[in-house]
Amino acid sequence: MTAAFPPGGTDLAELPTPALLVDRPRMEANLTAMAAALDAAGVALRPHFKTSKCLAVARRQLAHGAIGFTCATPAEVTLLQDAGVADVLWAHQPVGPAKVAFAVGALARGGLTVALDSVEAAAPLARAAEAAGVAVPFVLEVDTGLHRAGVDPDRAVPTAAALAALPALELRGVLTHEGHLAAHGPDRAGLEAAGDLAGRTLVQVAEALRAAGHACPLVSVGSTPGATSAPFAAGVTEARPGTYVYFDANQVGLGSARIEQCAQTVLTRVVSAQRPGTVIVDAGIKAMSSDSIATAGTLGIVCDAAGGPLDGVEFTGGNEEHGYLTGPGTSGLRVGDLLRIVPNHACGTTNMWSALHFVAGDRAVERSPIEARH
Ligand SMILES: Cc1ncc(COP(=O)(O)O)c(C=O)c1O
Repeated sequence: MTAAFPPGGTDLAELPTPALLVDRPRMEANLTAMAAALDAAGVALRPHFKTSKCLAVARRQLAHGAIGFTCATPAEVTLLQDAGVADVLWAHQPVGPAKVAFAVGALARGGLTVALDSVEAAAPLARAAEAAGVAVPFVLEVDTGLHRAGVDPDRAVPTAAALAALPALELRGVLTHEGHLAAHGPDRAGLEAAGDLAGRTLVQVAEALRAAGHACPLVSVGSTPGATSAPFAAGVTEARPGTYVYFDANQVGLGSARIEQCAQTVLTRVVSAQRPGTVIVDAGIKAMSSDSIATAGTLGIVCDAAGGPLDGVEFTGGNEEHGYLTGPGTSGLRVGDLLRIVPNHACGTTNMWSALHFVAGDRAVERSPIEARH
């Protein structure tokens, strides 16, 4: 349940540590900027819900023009459907009896589109949906360089033909996730070129499908580095950034955001300072995500309680409930000091927590559950 703090909020120093914080003004600024950029590009916004897994955040994204959401897990789909969200894209192959049964039930509720990339993934779902009398709107997942799920672009037309032969399936469009942009690190020109190529490749696939007689209204790209770099290719109809709502240390490293835009932090205290050059905080690996694409060897960016980065202090290691801060800047830290860490990966960090605190300045103003962790 969402809990309000007293009028004016609660001083951050009063919160138990560690705690997950979301700076509300920063989040709102991120939502405003992305909505404006996509609006100007004529591209619809379908944020990925995995970053927040929190209905309070989803409602703000809808208020900022989101047409619906992208999900990775059944828990995310269920939460949004229960909340009345009418347009949900489950961008993960629904494979295995439990996921097939879940998909049929969720499809029967209406407004759900699934992602498929093979007859092997699609056939059990198609059979179960036909038996239940339920249609399966789907997007064909296409690999534009990540080499995760998704058909190679030149396999899209034959795969769509094979899927069209299955019952219940209704092709709605094509989807790609340009997660491979992160491999370009701070090479902004390389990242932008890869984003541009991914978009153009997906549009070409959509055109080939149309030429082969398939309806393909939806052309869906999705990543925060993509949405904050090169212009969208002509013909892209929607974008699915997720991390943009909070940003994180990885996105700062990639040049998608500045540290001042990072809305998610972990509040922690120095609990021990026995050895020169090292202090111990009460946020360890169960409070953070070590998933690092741009901040190799560290668990996040160490900031003071006001959110300003601390010079000469690095988060170089963690046990479950202990974090190791090292470097010359630790000489200025004392037991009891309050710090904030910008995590490497916002989405992975979210999954560690059952609740977040919205903050404004140095006050916690509201506590919200993170309802869809699993
Ligand atoms: C299918 C899909 N779409 C969109 C996104 C959002 O990308 P980002 O986290 O870069 O915002 C992801 C992220 O993993 C994804 O897997």
